[in-house]
Amino acid sequence: MNQPQVSNYPTPGQIEALVLEHYGLAGSLQALVGEVDLNYQLSTVRGDYLLKISRPGADRTHLEFLNDLHAYLSTSLPAAETPQVIPTLQGSSMMDFELNPDQTCIARLYSWLPGRLWSSVRPHPSKLLEELGAKAGAISTALAAFEHAAAHRDMHWDIAQAAWTEGMLNHFSGEQRQVLDFFQNEFQNIQPEYLQLRKQVVHNDVNDNNVLVDFVDDLPTLSGIIDFGDAIFTQLINDLAITIAYGIMGQDDIGHAAGQIVTGYHQQCPMTREEINLLYPLIAMRLVISVCKAAENRRLEPENAYLQISETHAWTVLEQLRSLDSEAFTYGLLDACGFLADTQSRAAEAIEACSLLALFPQGMFKAIQVLDLGLESRLMTPNVLAGDHTVFDASIQKMKDDASETLFAGRHLEIRPAYSMEIDERIGPKGRECRAVHLGLDLWVDPETAVLAPRSCRILEINRSDENSSLLLDLQSAASVYLLISGLEPASLGVDVGDMIETGTFLGNVGQKEPGESFGGPLNLQILKHPFQVIKNIPTRIYPSERALWKKLTWMPQQLFQELDIPVVKHHTLFDLINTRRKHLGKSLSISYDEPLYMLRGMGVYLIDAEGQRYLDTVNNVAHVGHEHPRVVAAGQRQMGLLNTNTRYVHHKITELAAALLETFPEPLSVVHFVNSGSEANELALRMARAATGQKDIIAIERGYHGNTQACIDISSYKFDGKGGQGCPEHTHIVPLPDAFRGRYQGPECGDRYAEHVLEQIAKIQDLGGEPAAFICESIISCGGQIELPQGYLNRAFESVRQAGGVCISDEVQVGCGRVGSHFWGFQIHDVVPDIVTIGKPLGNGHPLAAVICTGDVAEAFANGMEYFNTFGGNPVSCAIGLEVLDVIREENLQQHALEVGNYLKKGLKELQTKHSIIADVRGQGLFLGFELTDAEKKPLTRKAGYLANRMRDLGILMSTDGKDNNVLKIKPPMVFSRENADALLMRLDQVCSETLMQDD
Ligand SMILES: Cc1ncc(COP(=O)(O)O)c(C=O)c1O
Repeated sequence: MNQPQVSNYPTPGQIEALVLEHYGLAGSLQALVGEVDLNYQLSTVRGDYLLKISRPGADRTHLEFLNDLHAYLSTSLPAAETPQVIPTLQGSSMMDFELNPDQTCIARLYSWLPGRLWSSVRPHPSKLLEELGAKAGAISTALAAFEHAAAHRDMHWDIAQAAWTEGMLNHFSGEQRQVLDFFQNEFQNIQPEYLQLRKQVVHNDVNDNNVLVDFVDDLPTLSGIIDFGDAIFTQLINDLAITIAYGIMGQDDIGHAAGQIVTGYHQQCPMTREEINLLYPLIAMRLVISVCKAAENRRLEPENAYLQISETHAWTVLEQLRSLDSEAFTYGLLDACGFLADTQSRAAEAIEACSLLALFPQGMFKAIQVLDLGLESRLMTPNVLAGDHTVFDASIQKMKDDASETLFAGRHLEIRPAYSMEIDERIGPKGRECRAVHLGLDLWVDPETAVLAPRSCRILEINRSDENSSLLLDLQSAASVYLLISGLEPASLGVDVGDMIETGTFLGNVGQKEPGESFGGPLNLQILKHPFQVIKNIPTRIYPSERALWKKLTWMPQQLFQELDIPVVKHHTLFDLINTRRKHLGKSLSISYDEPLYMLRGMGVYLIDAEGQRYLDTVNNVAHVGHEHPRVVAAGQRQMGLLNTNTRYVHHKITELAAALLETFPEPLSVVHFVNSGSEANELALRMARAATGQKDIIAIERGYHGNTQACIDISSYKFDGKGGQGCPEHTHIVPLPDAFRGRYQGPECGDRYAEHVLEQIAKIQDLGGEPAAFICESIISCGGQIELPQGYLNRAFESVRQAGGVCISDEVQVGCGRVGSHFWGFQIHDVVPDIVTIGKPLGNGHPLAAVICTGDVAEAFANGMEYFNTFGGNPVSCAIGLEVLDVIREENLQQHALEVGNYLKKGLKELQTKHSIIADVRGQGLFLGFELTDAEKKPLTRKAGYLANRMRDLGILMSTDGKDNNVLKIKPPMVFSRENADALLMRLDQVCSETLMQDD
């Protein structure tokens, strides 16, 4: 604990005695952090208090000022939100005590506010940021009329008095020096306006160690703001700047975070446009003070770490501020206060129209065609999403060749999935987001095409870069309209800044776009409502969370270019879809996550939602070789165009697939029946077992799931023992989940003990006069919580069942097709050969294709004369897809890949386990892994598991929970999941496991 280093202070015991004497409070003290005062938490039977002891020689006038301020605040703010002064038994607001004859200390006692320090809480969601702004704003409003002579004082931490930091600059070098110089300069530039701003007494130190956060129903809420020791009479805006400077620490999207704080502050303490306009340099200036103070303190008090507490974070935020576009940042803050008008909806006539075709030499283009490059565009094929520019460029070129007089244009504010696949990502307000939104009307025009002024205008700005230049034209319309043209060849520019030019004036030629450079058109037009000063900072791609702002900063292209006929794309909202789904679909369907997802595209290990957000999928073992694998898609499309019919006609695809599948199985598994789902496969397997044995009774595993048909539900304790279940049916016999970690027998040697329960159930069946028809088991039990079967278990269970005349069914619906890495089928890990194997999910890579593979004997017994007809099972399209999936697994070496990446990930998870004790067990094989959250007594941490899955979704990673107590996180991604994906997963798991709600009990 860092306390200011002062010698001669009384011991905690002595202080406790003083407190008892002067306040009548008996309690114990615990030291807290502090910069100036010695701070203690005093715990008494009446509750907690904050005791502050000033250093010897403290300015009594200042302390009186603080007491007056508290007294003033308590008349207008709820007592629970700011500390209340507790008087001594004599009614005094301070307690003096002598350290020695020459030194007196002053102690003050305050009410204790509950909560944790903001700096120790992670994460800080949008609503909490807004609450922070609101609480800080409410304090400023409460202090608006507070006057005090002592509030007018000299202070290094006052932004208005930040000039001293200039003298510190030579303590810095390199990039740090550049950042400081930049903000000093910005601060200088705003002085004339800044000095005019209104002043009042403000808190002046709403930093991350002076803000308290409480948790209500697992939601963080702001419980109070403390420590008014830095209160001062200064520009009101400084207080907001300070609140932002610390509130945005740790945020990826500081623009949004600042906007939330401003929204809250402005609601409680209305700001002016002029004040908001100056926030950017003022926020930075507070951080400049912070890093300069830290440098100074390092020299003066190297031991006091508290004095440097915010330094690293301050540098990070300074760098973040430096690298963003300050104009867009400020517009975002103005928007947060409602200062930006939304003119999108205004009639197009509001701005004076001009012709898009007039941008090019007369007659060059006669028509315009607007392209769809959005999430469901036919141009965005799996190959294009995989980054294949050649395919994309060739499609566009073909369209151009087919219609040479047509100008092809792309939409402004369109979400482009091809952008989603690129690495540009950050954690935004709603979680992880990709820079997927295109800004501007992009045009596919050949290099060297002349671009002309569409009407008389003034050249406001020119940005000349090496390859690509842009011009900002002031179209001098009644409403502000600025046309930014990007993509011009730098050497060709025919105009200069300040030129007033006529319609048709040559501006420049379209530049050369490198092949594969971008999925946007070479020439881009943005129609802005505001004259940006630094046009090189205006992006052509933004994050989805920035869309609302940019809608306000730009005109829609059709508002300026009226010949543009942009088809309206029907956008479904999540809200509407959920409502319609509720209305029209069965209520037993569930939706994942607290905040449901609306997915529109799949690509490899990723899914892309309707906002263009890309999610790393660690859940979907159905998309085995990757979502929308181009080869699998093409195989299905090709066969769909040729023939799709049932198995009553002979077709080579079904026999080819049967042969290819059987190659992966050991003898005597030699006969295949194709079906459409895992449920159907298990249903058929049960019929076969019953046909082969003439018996009805099935032995199944506790918490097992085998499908949704009646016969499958009857053997799935996951269902019949779960919500809405009717309990175990007559002919089902459940054996305990062989969970070596938390089950009734534990440790690596428990296989035999669990297997004895199979024998026990056989005996029970025999007692009732029957014999077992079958024993059904997954090779790694999925719904049970990724339970690896203990050694020897399957072997012994199979042996017992066979001895009683039953058959053994291996349900490989989840784990099959190479997923376990070491083998192609999960049962092979246990060195057994089942009589029947059921497979499903991975075989069709998302297409409904499943199969039952059995021994010749079982097949013979089943073929008793009754035809087995399945309308869709084994149709040529499904079989073409299945064949392609098997080929891809082999050619892309995915089984070996699953082994290597799975081992790598498992090792990483075990390392995380050493850091986060709630990760109690890590298990699984290949890319079928899981980890279980429990406390030290192995009690399941179900809520934390749910929190983890939901937070991971926010961070762009899809995970699911399962197990008896829903406390196991399952990892079973598409098999193309890479080491980089594993690193991303581990990094985010580490982050979330470190969050506040994962740590507390
Ligand atoms: C182990 C197991 N078997 C069978 C099934 C049923 O498969 P389907 O949903 O394709 O009918 C499932 C589905 O989750 C499963 O996990």
